[in-house]
Amino acid sequence: MTLIALLPGDGIGPEVTAEAVRVLETVCGNRLTFEEAPVGGAAYKASGHPLPPTTLDLAKRADAILFGAVGDPDCDSLERHLRPEQAILGLRKELVLFSNLRPAKLFPELADASTLRPEVACQIDLVIVRELNGDVYFGEKGMRKTAEGLREGYDVMSYNEAEVRRIAHSGFKAAQARKGKLCSVDKANVLETSQLWRDVVIEVSADYPDVELSHMYVDNAAMQLVRNPGQFDVIVTGNLFGDILSDQASMCAGSIGMLPSASLDANGKGLYEPIHGSAPDIAGQQKANPLATILSAAMMLRYSLGMAAEADRIEAAVGAALASGARTPDLGGSLTTRQMGDAVLAAL
Ligand code: IPM
Ligand code: MG
Repeated sequence: MTLIALLPGDGIGPEVTAEAVRVLETVCGNRLTFEEAPVGGAAYKASGHPLPPTTLDLAKRADAILFGAVGDPDCDSLERHLRPEQAILGLRKELVLFSNLRPAKLFPELADASTLRPEVACQIDLVIVRELNGDVYFGEKGMRKTAEGLREGYDVMSYNEAEVRRIAHSGFKAAQARKGKLCSVDKANVLETSQLWRDVVIEVSADYPDVELSHMYVDNAAMQLVRNPGQFDVIVTGNLFGDILSDQASMCAGSIGMLPSASLDANGKGLYEPIHGSAPDIAGQQKANPLATILSAAMMLRYSLGMAAEADRIEAAVGAALASGARTPDLGGSLTTRQMGDAVLAAL
């Protein structure tokens, strides 16, 4: 029996994960067992910590994790270690989920939903491989006083070569499984962290003579993503740059409500989540698009559970639902979250 840890979290998380669970139950029947636990602001409010030990334990025991979103404005003034976001950061770190795959591909039916011109938008078909366990996210941070008595915030950016090497391998392997092109994004013209990143990526490239490697500064990459997204196949980058570029790529592909992600450890165990946040402004109103979470569930079947055929079926059903005209408000339509789930179920 395959155990799925279901961590809906905050805001729209419960609504969108509910639709993904309906799809999974329909496609996989009783092959999956779900066990749910609180996470994020919901967990803080229930038990005083955003990632309670029982939730972490479930995530460790499970074969895979389906995650909604965390983030709750009620918690914005808490000490940082108690904020909802620490739950997802803690899961990524504790489970050593260092390799984050964020595919951005435009469903042809959504060419008009992108803010890019349709002929540019329809070129986008890329994967961002984002490092998740290091960078400025996990460096020393704090508040201090300067010698002049000014308040100063600091967050240390660093990567060691082992961290860069393992994510570089993820990037090269992802490129091998696709069109064989890898673009490493850094800021080596300014940052030492990035200089090491670039040096190590070049060293690792010796193992992958079949992959065409290029390098791009992150500011240029942000520009190229909207100018000509079709030039990219796989992008490998650090935690912070990957966070920013993946939101941008999602809009190029139509909506942030469309992008799934997989966060994997070295053995393929993974946490699956939409790249969007908890969207507190529309929480509980059935306005959220569940497709990013449904597509994340498909990635879970493919990458962690060896059910590629079932994953294909879900992805095809999402395409068919869109082709039939199903649209939530983010895509210019008026379906509820549940109705969008129904449209996918009908297309299965
Ligand atoms: C993401 C999110 C998270 C991140 C937040 C919620 C901590 O933006 O998964 O992209 O910054 O990684
Ligand atoms: Mg983000």
